[in-house]
Amino acid sequence: MKTELLDASGLARAAELLRSGGLVAIPTETVYGLGANGLDESAVARIFEVKGRPQDNPLILHVAAAEDLTKWCRDIPAAAWTLTERFWPGPLTLVLKKRPAVPLRVTAGLDTVAMRCPDHPLTREVLRRAALPVAAPSANLSGKPSTTTAQHCIHDLWGKVEAILDGGPCRVGVESTILDLSVFPPRVLRPGGVTLEQLRALLPETELDPGLVKPGETPKAPGMKYRHYSPQAEVRLLRGEKERIDDYVNSLPDEGTAVLCFAGEEGRFPGKRTLAYGREDAPETLAAGLFDSLRALDTPEVKLICAMCPSEEGVGRAVVNRLKKAAGGKITCL
Ligand code: TXA
Ligand code: MG
Repeated sequence: MKTELLDASGLARAAELLRSGGLVAIPTETVYGLGANGLDESAVARIFEVKGRPQDNPLILHVAAAEDLTKWCRDIPAAAWTLTERFWPGPLTLVLKKRPAVPLRVTAGLDTVAMRCPDHPLTREVLRRAALPVAAPSANLSGKPSTTTAQHCIHDLWGKVEAILDGGPCRVGVESTILDLSVFPPRVLRPGGVTLEQLRALLPETELDPGLVKPGETPKAPGMKYRHYSPQAEVRLLRGEKERIDDYVNSLPDEGTAVLCFAGEEGRFPGKRTLAYGREDAPETLAAGLFDSLRALDTPEVKLICAMCPSEEGVGRAVVNRLKKAAGGKITCL
């Protein structure tokens, strides 16, 4: 299939492709999304095919404005309006009871639907012009790190989708926070761009779902059970005193080992291939650099990536969550 690369001059084309059942990679402030008309079952089915996404993993429905919630959701609690007022457009996804108009293919059979209003000028305009709810997972092949530039989307999706809309690098760099408002108290199912601290400032009762799933159990956000965000190499997430980490990493062979480190700390690992993904004291820079760095280290020579684990404050919680998933669910404490 021929893929069109669009920019700010191609918004009408992007909207038209979505309206006619096409797949379009769209920029958001978090990561790129692989969008399709959320009311068109066969377009939605193609999202799953192209990504290689498990059928039981529901999609987020993207809308242009908070008012759209009433079209697709029912029993909307007052908290939803408080949150949309404060955080929309922005990196917060709300899980609410769905109306019958939302296809079960979007929600993977669930009675709830995840709703989000992204904060990117190009995509907001596309959503407005398409006048559709746009179903979109992250625009990566299933299991791979999410895409935060048009180049990443080209790498994963070229020839498989109708268009890629280049909106530049994503500002936040990790996906939206998913908050389940279909239960009380509200529950964070996935930490993301809006922090737990920010949510609790408005809704103090907000709980953090531990995301721990026993074999055979289904997590509340089905996508959280899969190995994810993973380059080809093994990822080892390291936490502990710096001297111990240095001893550990420096005892590994130089060949085949790469270090995903903090800016300014490359010198701690002489002989090793290093890549800084952001500043340790500025978690938002780590979030912004994370997926691009994981992708940059995804070369055949790299067999092991030792990643420095940041503190779980603010958006750092989302960064640790993603790195932990990439590392097969565990943190190596030294
Ligand atoms: O920032 C983002 O959220 C990006 C951009 C493109 O908007 N999207 C994104 O989508 O991260 P995706 O598909 O990669 O992750 C969506 C997550 C999955 O873990 C899925 O299981 C969960 O949301 N999810 C979707 N619908 C849900 C529902 N009704 N209840 C619980 N979890 C849901
Ligand atoms: Mg994803």
